[in-house]
Amino acid sequence: TPYPAHLDADFPPLKNDLILRVARGEDVERIPVWIMRQAGRYLPEFREERSKHDFFTICRTPELACLVTLQPIDRYEGLLDASIIFSDILVVPQALGLEVQMLPAKGPHFPEPLVDPSHLARLKKDVNVDAELRYVFEAITLTRQKLDGRVPLFGFVGAPWTLMAYMIEGGGSKTLSKAKAWLGQWPEESKELLQRVTDVVVDFLVGQAKAGAQLLQVFDSWAGELSPAQFNEFSLPYIQQIPTRVRAALREIDPTLAKIPMVVFARGAHYALESLSTPEIGYDIISLDWTMDPVASRKRVGDNVSLQGNADPSLLYAPKETIKKEVAVMLEKFGTKRRYIANLGHGMHPDHDPEHLRAFLEAIRDVSSERNS
Ligand code: CP3
Repeated sequence: TPYPAHLDADFPPLKNDLILRVARGEDVERIPVWIMRQAGRYLPEFREERSKHDFFTICRTPELACLVTLQPIDRYEGLLDASIIFSDILVVPQALGLEVQMLPAKGPHFPEPLVDPSHLARLKKDVNVDAELRYVFEAITLTRQKLDGRVPLFGFVGAPWTLMAYMIEGGGSKTLSKAKAWLGQWPEESKELLQRVTDVVVDFLVGQAKAGAQLLQVFDSWAGELSPAQFNEFSLPYIQQIPTRVRAALREIDPTLAKIPMVVFARGAHYALESLSTPEIGYDIISLDWTMDPVASRKRVGDNVSLQGNADPSLLYAPKETIKKEVAVMLEKFGTKRRYIANLGHGMHPDHDPEHLRAFLEAIRDVSSERNS
C-alpha cells in the first residue's frame, strides 16, 4: 500500500522557520545553524543506544531512529535550527537488494559488492520504495510529530555517484580505484547503474517529503574523487535530474509539497560550484566543504542561492576561545543574514567533544546577534 501523504496541517505548527526563510532568500534576524552528522557517536547518549542495538536496527525502528534524531535537539535545546532524520545513505543500496553491514570501527561493508557489469542483474528492478524504505518514512512522520515544531526536519539521500562508489568498492576506500575503473572500462554500464540508482533516489526523496521532511539534502560525499570532466559526465547529469523530478512528482500530490527546499553537498568538487548553482537545476542551497573560501564562493554563485557551511570539522578540537574566534571570521566572510546557514564543512567526528560543539553553536548565536544589535 502507498505511504500516505502528510501536509503541514497534519503536524504541530513550526516555531522556528529560520532555515526555511534562508532557503527562500528572505532576511533573517540571526544566522541559523545545524550540523552534518549531529546525531552520532560523539554523543554518549547515542553510544548508549548503539550499545543495545545494531546500527541498521536503529535505522529500521522508527521509535529508535526518532529517539536518536532528537538527542542533539534536546541536548543543545535552542541552539540548533534544524534536525536531520537518523538514517544512512546506504539504505538505498539495501533497497536495491544489496546487503550492507555496519562493522564496528570499520564502517560500512558490502559482503558482495558489484564486481563487473554482469552483477547489475543482481539489483532489483522497479524498486517499490514505499515497501522497501517505509521504515524511513514512518521514522520521519513520527519525528516530525515529536519535534513538536521546535525546528524543521531534513530528509536526505546519497548522490548517485557516491552510492555507485560504495556499491562497487564495498566500503570505504582511499582511492576509489574499483569504482573509477568502471567509469573508464564500462562507461555505458556505469551510466545504467547511475540511472537506476537515480530513479530510486528520486522516489525516496518524494516519499520523505510526503512523510513530513521539510528540507532535503543530497550528499555527494565522494564527488571530489572525480576530475571535472568525470564529474560532468558521471555525477552532474544525475544530481541535476533530482530537483525537477522530485518537485514534479510532489506537485501531482499537492503543490505546497513541491516547494520543499533542496540542498546539494558535493564534497571536494570545487570546479562544480557554478554548474550546481544554476537556477534551472533547482537547488536552493549549496553546502560548501571547508576547503572552499566563502568570499570567492559567494562571488562565483551570485545572489540567487543560499550557501551552507563550512568550518573545518577539526576546528572542534581547538580550545573554545579559538572556536569562537574562527566562528567570528567565518561569519564575517559569509557576511550576511541573507542566504547563509552555518554548519561544518563535513560531519562530526566520533571523537569530538560535545562541549566543543556547544561552544561552536553558542559562538554562532552570539556573533550573529551582536552583529544584529
Ligand atoms: O545526524 C545525522 O547527520 C543523521 C545521520 C547520518 C548518518 N549517516 C548516521 C551514521 C547521515 C546524514 C549519514 C549520511 C552518510 N552516511 C554519508 C554522507 C555524509 C558524509 O558523512 O559524507 C555517508 C558517506 C555515509 C556512509 C557511512 N555511514 C559511513 C562512511 C559510515 C562510517 C563512518 C562513520 O562516520 O561512522 C557510516 C556509519 C554511520 N552513519 C554512523 C552514523 C551515526 C556510525 C555507525 C555506527 O554507529 O557504528
